[in-house]
Amino acid sequence: MAQPADLRGADDSVGSMTASDNLIDGRSIAEQIHRETAERIGSLKARGLAPGLTFVRVGEDPASRVYVGMKERMSQRLGIRSTTEVLPEGATEGVLLELIGRLNADSGVHGILVQAPLPRHIDAARVYKAVSPDKDVDGFHPVNVGKLLLGDTTGFVPCTPAGVHELLIRSGVRIEGADVVVLGRGTIVGKPMAALLVQKARHANATVTVCHSLTRDIAVHCRRADILIAALGVARFVKADMIKAGAVVIDVGVNREPDSSVKTGYRLVGDVDFDSVRQVAGRLTPNPGGVGPMTIAMLMQNTVRAAENSIRAPTLDSRT
Ligand code: GUN
Repeated sequence: MAQPADLRGADDSVGSMTASDNLIDGRSIAEQIHRETAERIGSLKARGLAPGLTFVRVGEDPASRVYVGMKERMSQRLGIRSTTEVLPEGATEGVLLELIGRLNADSGVHGILVQAPLPRHIDAARVYKAVSPDKDVDGFHPVNVGKLLLGDTTGFVPCTPAGVHELLIRSGVRIEGADVVVLGRGTIVGKPMAALLVQKARHANATVTVCHSLTRDIAVHCRRADILIAALGVARFVKADMIKAGAVVIDVGVNREPDSSVKTGYRLVGDVDFDSVRQVAGRLTPNPGGVGPMTIAMLMQNTVRAAENSIRAPTLDSRT
């Protein structure tokens, strides 16, 4: 498996990679972050402040139930006070906005996460705009989106792209000057991912190409990538012949693939054809066990920062 030296940063010992293994282990890096977050929670509690995070779920979408459940369990494990508000599928936008207003006004709630997707009759943009930017641990509020574009690190960055960024940094992948190709231009991953990596900042300064459903010759773009980030939501879209030898490949996708051999009738697969791509890539994320745990780690980190900010004015650079 090719692993060119030019893709490595100064510290290749970080993460759980060994010489015979080209996997970027999101689970162990996320655990490392959780330890740091737990320490910060301990410091806050010593000052009499327990960080609080409220999840809002509308309807009973099975995937959303699973995701919110995982985030809740991690909150509890780390000592974040978490609650979940569930509204029925048919709840009006007005009821949801009223709930958000109450959570904004509650000083015990430092972070608010409204799980997407929302039912179609609700205007998601209006909902995310209603969350106080100071409690917007999802980084979806226009103020935080703007701060990300401006390179203002006092804002909150959406958890999945923040997690991918941290995964690259802590795995010692050199981002500066790299050709990065992001597959997908969604608001939750693709667009903020590109904004993070193109910044004139340490661990950024990449040349970023964003590909989407109307991009011609996607494979040509992919083959130029030093770092390929797949977030387009198409099962096993990225094949080995789309990868430059030695490239770093990050799989954000979570797709259902029919599988009659399991009870649920489906299994979850990523956007990357893992077995073939592994033969060509320098390093790649497993899926599961890559980006997913990092998303949760970033949510916990954002929540703790929101709680810290509530007792002191934000510093110039408080994105940690
Ligand atoms: N649905 C899928 N990913 C996310 C996320 O990062 N935040 C929220 N709120 N909903 C999601």
